[in-house]
Amino acid sequence: MFATLITRAYSFASPAQGTLSFDCKALAAGLAATWLLAGHAHAWGPEGHSVVGEVAQRRLTPAARAAVTRILGEGVSLASVSMWADDVRPSRPETYNWHFVNIPLEDSRYDQDVHCAPSPKGDCVVAELERLRNELRCAPTDTAKNEALRFTVHFVADVHQPLHTVREKQGGNQVLVATYIAGATCTGRCTPKPTATNLHAVWDTTILHKAAWDWGALVDAVEKNLPNYLQGASSSSEPKEWALETHRVAQSVWAATPSNGVIDEDYYRMALPIALQQLGRAGVRLATFLNDAYGSSTCPVR
Ligand code: ADE
Ligand code: ZN
Ligand code: ZN
Repeated sequence: MFATLITRAYSFASPAQGTLSFDCKALAAGLAATWLLAGHAHAWGPEGHSVVGEVAQRRLTPAARAAVTRILGEGVSLASVSMWADDVRPSRPETYNWHFVNIPLEDSRYDQDVHCAPSPKGDCVVAELERLRNELRCAPTDTAKNEALRFTVHFVADVHQPLHTVREKQGGNQVLVATYIAGATCTGRCTPKPTATNLHAVWDTTILHKAAWDWGALVDAVEKNLPNYLQGASSSSEPKEWALETHRVAQSVWAATPSNGVIDEDYYRMALPIALQQLGRAGVRLATFLNDAYGSSTCPVR
């Protein structure tokens, strides 16, 4: 499936190559107004979060599956609740910082006091996942257990989005770029349009949007390549280690930012396997996190 996504991108890119070059200055001028309107991106978009939820769902133990059913309700999927944390973010300002951890690019260590300091907007995704490890199993009410599960599904995915571990330029939200990508969703009579956005949003949504309309196809691509994606991945169950691993990915992603600010077909081909790898690692780790949480009833979790 992954091969199909890439091959389709290639086969369209080659004949269209001539149309993929343009005057960058004119483009920048034309897009400046749109850039001012470009929103602040929060998380993987719905597709990325749904993929992570689905990959995890397929790996739940019987005990964890039963707990998820008890907590969410019969037939309610992890994918279907995976964006809830973004929906409640505006009305719960204390959760704002739980979606990311601001580690400077040059740092290779995580310093809780510096990178995850408490604030009225919350601390960071690493600390929140540590709390959720306990709340999933030991929260005092059904409602609190339900919210813990919804937050966990979302934040395990967020800590795998490379730019969610980067402090610079608000994780790339302030790096203005233009995308010019056909990918696998702009084929036939479709011609790619230059689009003003920012580097963060490219990683949250654009790359995945260009790869498929159907997020189930992204799940298939992740599942097919999962053994590759897990090779070299940390076997730690510590969110701090996941964040540091993601941060190393972010260092190379950041360095690959084109100096002309144009995210083109070549960038997309480089980025898609990295995005899918991160979704796969997140899905497998989410499953283990839930299997551990619901595999015992001892409280508190040590
Ligand atoms: N806001 C500030 N820094 C951020 C980051 N690294 N990721 C997402 N949102 C942010
Ligand atoms: Zn988020
Ligand atoms: Zn984001």
